[in-house]
Amino acid sequence: MSVRILATSPLVGSALADLGARFPRLLLAPFRSAEWNAALAETEVLVALVSEPITQADLDAAPNLKALGTYSVGVNHLPLKACEARGITVVNTPGVLTEATADLALALLLAVTRRVAEGEALVRSGAWQGWAPDQLLGSGLAGKTCGILGSGPIGLAFARRTWALGMVPAFWDRNGQGGHVDFGPGRARRMDLSDLLARSAVISLHCPLTEQTRGLLDRAALEQLPEGAVIINTARGGILDESATIDLLESGRLGGVGLDVYDGEPRIDPRWLQTPRTVLLPHLGSATVETRAAMASLLCEGLAAALG
Ligand code: DGY
Repeated sequence: MSVRILATSPLVGSALADLGARFPRLLLAPFRSAEWNAALAETEVLVALVSEPITQADLDAAPNLKALGTYSVGVNHLPLKACEARGITVVNTPGVLTEATADLALALLLAVTRRVAEGEALVRSGAWQGWAPDQLLGSGLAGKTCGILGSGPIGLAFARRTWALGMVPAFWDRNGQGGHVDFGPGRARRMDLSDLLARSAVISLHCPLTEQTRGLLDRAALEQLPEGAVIINTARGGILDESATIDLLESGRLGGVGLDVYDGEPRIDPRWLQTPRTVLLPHLGSATVETRAAMASLLCEGLAAALG
């Protein structure tokens, strides 16, 4: 029997297996293995992970492809224009990972500003000598401006969290400057990027990686941040110039950085491993049992619809 659904690994929960039972035959084969490459010729539905960039050549090798699904909300690793030209349905997982990703951004923000990783390492090292007035001093957040790049669902959810901390959220988004963004319990100013950067004690990225946002926070942009500013990125590598960020951290200009995503991940700039005042996570934004199961269900519902 020909391969109908091609995926590289099981997903959390039973949704993918259920889809395979409903529409035989599901093949699991490692990404870009000989088996995966060969199966493309017959595949009707291709399931990719966020770490698996699909190319135009893959589509060319899959003449029967009806749908391309990704186990992510982000679609920057997919050949969207080629899918549109071929009439291939693209299925992603918007909505269900909003709260989990905003939670992780908050975790990074608190970890960076309150030096959680350093404190934990100190206790585990056995070298902690006890409480001291100036030990591992961090910085407070209440009353400070949190600049949020992107006013989609995750940006809004993160704004609610910063508001609960007593911060003042403000936004930059593709709608330009002026007006307000309603984030639920309040309204935040929508600002021009330069104004936002100049006022923000914290900048958190919540916009997709697109042609417009690649390199958005380049060296010139980063230099507009106030002394001691903190950057949090749970969106995508490539929006933030990591090399410039490391330089500014090393010079003492930036107060700290929390990253969950990296340009070219899982390879990361080796300088990150030595950089002070950073918390580095391995792309865990959506990594809760509930969220990953909901993502799988949503994805598989969309793929089932495409298969008819
Ligand atoms: C996404 O969904 O785009 C996340 O980055 C991975 O869960």
